[in-house]
Amino acid sequence: MYDSGKVIIGLLIFAGIFLFPFIYDHGSPAPKPKPSLDTPAIKALPEKKCVEDTQFMITTHMQFLNDWRDQALRDGNRWYVNKEGKKIWISLQNTCMKCHSNKKDFCDKCHNYAAVQPYCWDCHYDPNGSKL
Ligand code: HEC
Ligand code: HEC
Ligand code: HEC
Repeated sequence: MYDSGKVIIGLLIFAGIFLFPFIYDHGSPAPKPKPSLDTPAIKALPEKKCVEDTQFMITTHMQFLNDWRDQALRDGNRWYVNKEGKKIWISLQNTCMKCHSNKKDFCDKCHNYAAVQPYCWDCHYDPNGSKL
């Protein structure tokens, strides 16, 4: 009635598909994401620098963006002077996202990993012009 050979092969395939993620992952947490810096604007930079130093940006960009918004909207002052004394135009869309135009491979990569979903894109446009 049954072709036992086929059943066994079927079971093996099923087990392979089912177990693959576990074997592949070795049961360890997903690897830390590497946000991509591969954008035309960043490629064109003479120095590969963010608006402040990298460590500060990694740890503090959330608060930093809030401060930017407050300075721009409450104080009406859209010029930010960074620690090196450089003047930078305050804009999420036209400053941050101009360099980091690869939102999916940059911001989203970390945020998905950290399971945070900044609600900014309810109103602000992402670099591809779509509200996400
Ligand atoms: C002039 C282009 C430019 C602008 C504008 C810019 N960035 Fe960056 N950003 C960079 C570059 C280049 C790096 C990588 C620096 C390095 O490799 O040390 C970076 C790094 C970062 C990192 C750390 C990523 C990592 O390696 O883990 C974060 C977070 C970040 N930027 C967020 C922002 C935010 C938020 C803004 C707006 C407030 C912004 N950036 C504006 C060019 C820019
Ligand atoms: C190196 C990884 C990394 C990169 C790159 C990154 N973020 Fe984040 N971001 C985080 C983490 C982690 C948190 C959560 C921090 C926490 O909850 O303390 C966060 C939180 C935020 C928050 C606050 C959200 C909330 O609900 O509290 C905002 C806003 C934000 N990121 C904006 C951005 C933008 C815009 C970019 C791209 C220009 C970006 N981030 C790139 C790691 C990153
Ligand atoms: C309910 C809609 C809304 C949401 C959600 C929102 N913003 Fe805004 N944001 C605005 C508006 C409107 C302005 C003023 C734009 C202007 O005057 O050009 C603004 C301005 C800003 C500015 C200063 C100027 C600029 O053009 O970028 C920053 C920085 C900013 N927001 C960051 C954020 C961040 C970070 C988040 C997510 C944590 C966020 N906003 C979520 C509506 C919103």
